[in-house]
Amino acid sequence: AIIRKVNVLLSKMTIEEKVGQLNQYSGKAMTGPATAKRSSLETEIKSGWVGSMLNVKGAKNTHDVQAIAMQSRLKIPLLFSLDVIHGYQTTFPIPLAEAASWDLDAIKLSAHLAAREAAASGIHWTFAPMVDIARDPRWGRMMEGAGEDPYLGSRIAEARVKGFQGEHLGSTDAVMATAKHFAAYGAATAGRDYNAVEMSDHELWQTYLPPFKAALNAGVATFMNSFNTLNGIPATGNSYLQRDILKGKWGFKGFVVSDWNSIAEMVIWGYAKDLKDASLKAISAGNDMDMEASAYRKNLVELVKEGKVPVTIIDEAVKRILYKKYELGLFDDPYKFSDETREQRVMNDTSTRGAARMVARKSIVLLKNDAETLPLAKQAKTIALIGPLGKSKRDLLGAWIVNQDTTAIVSLYDGINSAVSKNAKLLYAQGGSVMHSSEQEIAEAVAVARQSDVIIMALGEKFDMSGESKSRANIELPGDQEKLFEEVSATGKPVVVVLMSGRPLIFNTIADKAQAILSTWWLGSEAGNAIADVIFGAYNPGGKLPMSFPRSMGQIPIFYAQTNTGRPYNNEPDKLYTSTYIDESNAPKYAFGYGLSYTQFNYSDLKLDRETIKMGDSIRLSFKLTNTGKYTGEEVAQLYLRDDVASIVRPLKELKGFEKVKLKPGESRIIHFTIDKDKLSFFDNKQHWIAEPGTFHVMIGASSDDIKLQNTITLTQ
Ligand code: IFM
Repeated sequence: AIIRKVNVLLSKMTIEEKVGQLNQYSGKAMTGPATAKRSSLETEIKSGWVGSMLNVKGAKNTHDVQAIAMQSRLKIPLLFSLDVIHGYQTTFPIPLAEAASWDLDAIKLSAHLAAREAAASGIHWTFAPMVDIARDPRWGRMMEGAGEDPYLGSRIAEARVKGFQGEHLGSTDAVMATAKHFAAYGAATAGRDYNAVEMSDHELWQTYLPPFKAALNAGVATFMNSFNTLNGIPATGNSYLQRDILKGKWGFKGFVVSDWNSIAEMVIWGYAKDLKDASLKAISAGNDMDMEASAYRKNLVELVKEGKVPVTIIDEAVKRILYKKYELGLFDDPYKFSDETREQRVMNDTSTRGAARMVARKSIVLLKNDAETLPLAKQAKTIALIGPLGKSKRDLLGAWIVNQDTTAIVSLYDGINSAVSKNAKLLYAQGGSVMHSSEQEIAEAVAVARQSDVIIMALGEKFDMSGESKSRANIELPGDQEKLFEEVSATGKPVVVVLMSGRPLIFNTIADKAQAILSTWWLGSEAGNAIADVIFGAYNPGGKLPMSFPRSMGQIPIFYAQTNTGRPYNNEPDKLYTSTYIDESNAPKYAFGYGLSYTQFNYSDLKLDRETIKMGDSIRLSFKLTNTGKYTGEEVAQLYLRDDVASIVRPLKELKGFEKVKLKPGESRIIHFTIDKDKLSFFDNKQHWIAEPGTFHVMIGASSDDIKLQNTITLTQ
């Protein structure tokens, strides 16, 4: 029925109105004072020249701007879009942090609650999830994704899409999601944002495309292309990606939006000679909507009149967009998302804060805990909180926030203060800034440390050190923070380091000398409470790293799913003529999948219901997981596979399954995984998903570098 309505409407549209639907503007000026910019935007909307706006938010504002669109000849409603990346009013952990939870329900819930608040504020569409695989922690944007692994990334992509979009589009507690950035943006050369990408087709299909396909299978409404080139062709003008793969082979029915001004940037790349040429290349390649470049607005009508762009291409793009507007129900009620009463109710729902605290606790990774330093007793006599991020609020939110009001953020100081018992004493010293500590600031911190029984240090990155355009050539803990740590640690008091960051960092001195380390990323509005929950044992951490943490810059890019070489280095004393560094090991400091708990888990009794299967059959394996420690805790048991011999060299290990299990002390659970042809398959050089007969290693681990159980299976024709 929607298709019929779309066709009827299309038949009434002029070419200008059609091109208008493909045009998206940033609408910041629409909600400010009356300016020339504002009045020109109003005129364009009334004339039917705008299909969507980004950056207009709030029930009243979206209502008022929609009312302008309702004055246009055909009254086609606008789509309101926004970067709702990890929360709207309530800020949840950054996506990379949530990925560390390996908890798909929690991740889905976080996306759902972000969508609920956004949708109550008039937003129809978020530019999330970012599903780019990232193996280079210099790249600032990896904070917005799910890390290095295509399997974990795919499961998280599905969870986020389902969380944002709910059961069906059109529900007023859901928004359309966007799988971005199509494609391979995460592989920007040298980790520099917006940079070129050179990649084999095999690598593209095997590593970078699977999360996009998973998002598509989960029903994602839109895709965004990206700023990078892929093998010399800008993604925005890349017909192989958009026409052949996405809309062709994968049969995607939604629409593709460009990235901000990325159509125009094809001129700067040297791929198009001017904006008109860029428009021709983008629309021909399958880019449906133009974000903020005005390229389509200025050129498409003429290109159609000149016969360079067939009107059928325009029609196809317009139909995709109109279809979504119908699905959202905007033709029945263009204001259905812009309801101020609902907005008030949803924004005041305190249960969302509770969920943000729950997701934040789950995102914390315990990297080290010597001599069971953690959890700390709440009645520890004197606790010192030291470090530049101890009382910080804004930094705890990280990049891409919507709610700029910092008053309601729980700092680590606030969190600890409300967790400890009344007779405990909490001392504080900032010890300098993230970038610099003077001798005097260090001396003050040391003096505070000396008066304490235990020290908690809040170290890491400021909120603007990771995120878009925030690539770093050096990902060591910034400034003088390791020096501050060393001086404080020299007091001989136990030190718990809380590392707040948007990326894996290098902090070897701390890694070696601190008694306990928590990677807490940027955890959002409830960060301080969540971290205090973990420090004082109200919650036993169960997060696992979604990205490898290197020991030195020279190891980057570093990821666990490496292939073997013809000359592997196997820790022999003699490194000569093996694939390693003469001055560094190959191993990361902390591996993908790594994370400790306050309790211990034992893996045993691996059983396979058979060891040989034919194509089409499956093996069911089971093993026993037992909590042998004294705390209730969660473990993420991980299944890795290795194809021993194949027509393309395969990685030594690839994640193919995981399960997060909560066990009480002494409790055991039998965990099952099924291995079928799909799990044994890979993309060959002709983009076929194939499994080849032969032997495979099956590995069950607590992390990628801690395999507890293994066996071999055989696949026959
Ligand atoms: O959604 C983003 C994108 O990820 C990066 N450039 C700007 C877009 C809109 O804000």
